[in-house]
Amino acid sequence: MGFRRRSVELLFVFWVVLWPFCLGIRSINSRLPVGGGDGFGFSMYGASEFVEAPQYRNGNDCPAIKPYASLCDPSFVHIAMTLDSEYLRGSLAAVYSINHHASCPENIFFHFIAAEFDPASPRLLNQIVRSTFPSLKFKVHIFREDKVINLISSSIREALENPLNFARIYLGEMLDSCIDRVIYLDSDIIVVDDIQELWNTKLTNPAVIGAPEYCHANFTNYFTPAFWSDPVLSRVFKSRKPCYFNTGVMVMDLERWRKGNYKKMIENWMEIQKKLRIYELGSLPPFLLVFAGNVEPIHHRWNQHGLGGDNVRGSCRPIHPGPVSLLHWSGKGKPWARLDSGNPCPIDRVWASFDLFKGKSLVAAPSMGYSSYLKQ
Ligand SMILES: *[C@@H]1O[C@H](CO)[C@@H](O)[C@H](O)[C@H]1NC(C)=O
Repeated sequence: MGFRRRSVELLFVFWVVLWPFCLGIRSINSRLPVGGGDGFGFSMYGASEFVEAPQYRNGNDCPAIKPYASLCDPSFVHIAMTLDSEYLRGSLAAVYSINHHASCPENIFFHFIAAEFDPASPRLLNQIVRSTFPSLKFKVHIFREDKVINLISSSIREALENPLNFARIYLGEMLDSCIDRVIYLDSDIIVVDDIQELWNTKLTNPAVIGAPEYCHANFTNYFTPAFWSDPVLSRVFKSRKPCYFNTGVMVMDLERWRKGNYKKMIENWMEIQKKLRIYELGSLPPFLLVFAGNVEPIHHRWNQHGLGGDNVRGSCRPIHPGPVSLLHWSGKGKPWARLDSGNPCPIDRVWASFDLFKGKSLVAAPSMGYSSYLKQ
């Protein structure tokens, strides 16, 4: 191994392993991590709380990525997810499920967005990911909450006000400029199909975002009467046919995103929200205001959402008919909490088969036929 190779390797180590610490240095603290508030969290996490996930190799037809390639290598599939102490168990299960079903798992690059002041500290979260997935290619980006903290208004559910929910607005500037596409995924999802297929989605110009659209949902309900009765504001939808889409699964063209200054447009709507209260939910409505009606429709199998139930604790939603590639426990009920409480919904068993938490109450290997749940 010559010097040149060595220096490339060191560069990679710097980017992937050390870089986050350079940014996060102010937030490193010695406190023990404490779990999140509303009953989903766990009192303490450490690297030893999770079992190491199986490692997966590329199939024969995968585009080759050189060892120690930079993250600008065009063969990488980039996935962005938030990483925090409250949904950590969900994020790790999601990563495991993605790798388990990917045709080219070694070509996936994960971008984890951690809050600067997460109780577990970005540094500990980084260690946990590393020890759970020893060969994973990833980078922990530090999200500075002060970017949005003054823009967030109260919403109907406290969990929706978490500044990290707004991190997806800042992917264009947080991810390296050579990255021109990213798949954004929530942390309460399980992928049961090859992520490469989602990655290959064509975004027809000028679409900036691709996501499953739901045109039968009554769009009126996502905004307040104050919004609809204001002729200037509601004119924003005049020349479009807006449909609801869920921002938990999005394919984003970051080049168009950066060029179009969409971050600023979303921030402007958040400013208006603070003054006029034009919606009740958190980070979703400003996305609808900017993009609804102009998203590239993706097959619904890529976001079977609502599995967390309606906003009623304990309600189990059946999955929608049709093929399933991604399961999404959006809503109030999270599968880890329902499993721990001993009262899971049937679909939660699919999630349980990717749970890497040592303290879990249910043990099942991914090969144990979750497809029977998906075929219902
Ligand atoms: C949608 O909801 C609004 C307000 O709840 C209601 O007035 C309207 O009739 C609904 N539209 C349809 C097509 O159901």
